[in-house]
Amino acid sequence: MAIRRTWWKEAVGYQIYPSSFMDSNGDGIGDLNGIRSKLDYLKDLGIGFIWITPIYESPNVDNGYDISDYQNILKTFGTMEEFDLLVEEAHVLGIKVIMDLVINHTSNQHPWFLESRSSVKDDYRDYYIWADGKIDGPPNDWVSIFGGSAWEYDETTKQYYLHVFAKEQPDLNWENPRVKRELFSMINWWLDKGIDGFRVDAISHIKKATFETPVADDPFAVFKNVQGIETHLEELRDVLKARDILTVGEANGVSAQEAHQWVGEEEGYFNMLFEFDHISLWNKEEQETLDVVHFKQAITSWQKALADGKGWNALYMENHDIPRSVSNFGSEETVFWKASAKALALTFLLLQGTPFIYQGQEIGMTNMPFRSIEDIDAVDTKNFYYEMIHTGINPEKAMDVVRRTARDNSRTPMQWTAEEYAGFSKRKPWMVINPNKYEINVLDELADSDSVLNFYKKVIRLRAQNEALIYGSYKLYLPEHPQLFVYGRRLEEERFVIIINLSKEFASSDLPENVYIEDWELQLCNLSNHTIHQHTIFAPYEARVYKYKK
Ligand code: GLC
Ligand code: CA
Repeated sequence: MAIRRTWWKEAVGYQIYPSSFMDSNGDGIGDLNGIRSKLDYLKDLGIGFIWITPIYESPNVDNGYDISDYQNILKTFGTMEEFDLLVEEAHVLGIKVIMDLVINHTSNQHPWFLESRSSVKDDYRDYYIWADGKIDGPPNDWVSIFGGSAWEYDETTKQYYLHVFAKEQPDLNWENPRVKRELFSMINWWLDKGIDGFRVDAISHIKKATFETPVADDPFAVFKNVQGIETHLEELRDVLKARDILTVGEANGVSAQEAHQWVGEEEGYFNMLFEFDHISLWNKEEQETLDVVHFKQAITSWQKALADGKGWNALYMENHDIPRSVSNFGSEETVFWKASAKALALTFLLLQGTPFIYQGQEIGMTNMPFRSIEDIDAVDTKNFYYEMIHTGINPEKAMDVVRRTARDNSRTPMQWTAEEYAGFSKRKPWMVINPNKYEINVLDELADSDSVLNFYKKVIRLRAQNEALIYGSYKLYLPEHPQLFVYGRRLEEERFVIIINLSKEFASSDLPENVYIEDWELQLCNLSNHTIHQHTIFAPYEARVYKYKK
């Protein structure tokens, strides 16, 4: 099947975590005017759309993912007028704007929930999920993704409500048609304002199993992609697909085999999904090096599942929920840092799909050496830390786990300069700044032609200029090689091959049989551009892109 051409397949996206991106008014917290001041930077990078994580009114228990008013901007971030200006200015530069749509749950301060909890007879009672407890506790043994029981007791009506995430994030009841009507009209209200799409948060959790279902090996299976979710998603699709927008669903628990149903070109619920397979493979607690073979399998199964116009992929290595990719998949060590950051750029930017760069990834930002739990903001990390302390793990050991796994690793302020507050703010920011701002910052990297930032620009430009890198087919070479990731892209006669050593060691291999290196022209490389031969030794994190000479 020929692949249908659209803007959201060709563009490269950029995820903005507003509180840590740019502070314009010196209160230490990033804001909308801060984003506006950096649009030129994003344009220069080659960005086609930005995805802004929640900026709605919120008590900020989960940094904006607990919304108390869907149709207002949180004052700390600015005003609705400033938001409109941001969209207008972005559009002038040819940058589209994607919002975060959080509709699995609201804040417990949302007026609907305040009403709902007030009485069992309240008109809004069924907006949320309430149940009687058992004699000795909650309705069942379900656990929250953020730790502890998924049920919270509410004194006023002596029932429990369900929360998949924090207890301040009660789950909406999607079985109630009024809830859906209300959410859909809110969605249309935003689309009428002229935004260009949504990243749809936690959407695989909107359907719950029956309360009798006990938790199994995967404790979250009771509310992850549960059968029957199709009906809700089809209704949502009919609202979203009425417009020419970009939609990307966050789909924990959806497998590559099911991907077609979720993002099939015709009937799919969304344009693309954030899958979890290639990310959850990585468990720093148990493993010290990346399992390259399994990583390639995970990537390839999604590339294949959505090939030939069957659907489309969302490509990412980082976001606000996971540690930095250089620290996780590459190496922070001085000798490897730069090469590995560039190698990781080639690992995802040239696959088939729409790439999403997370703020700071393009300069090679790394994990934060958090000193103590006081440095941490994320609600889940604090819960897990205190659980560890509770079970007798000593604080230093618990902090070790925190440093490797905390979401806050990617939430430290963007490093614009080497100044005291990294050019992010004039005042001490809400979150600690990584001390490596002296070595890793935008200002210095703009000036250095060999920087990670300039490498990102080159890769983005290469993708924009060669249709094969967007619409071409994907082929994995050397699937069993334990260090090298080698993949091809092809559109008719236009062919590319990308070779990446994803390890700290030298890697040797024969090139694939049909890749005679004499026929190929080097486009990009991250180390010296020496000539390679059919049998070659690649340096640690060496990465190259070749194009077939016609
Ligand atoms: C998603 C968001 C995450 C948030 C959670 C609850 O996973 O990416 O940041 O905490 O949903 O809304
Ligand atoms: Ca501010």
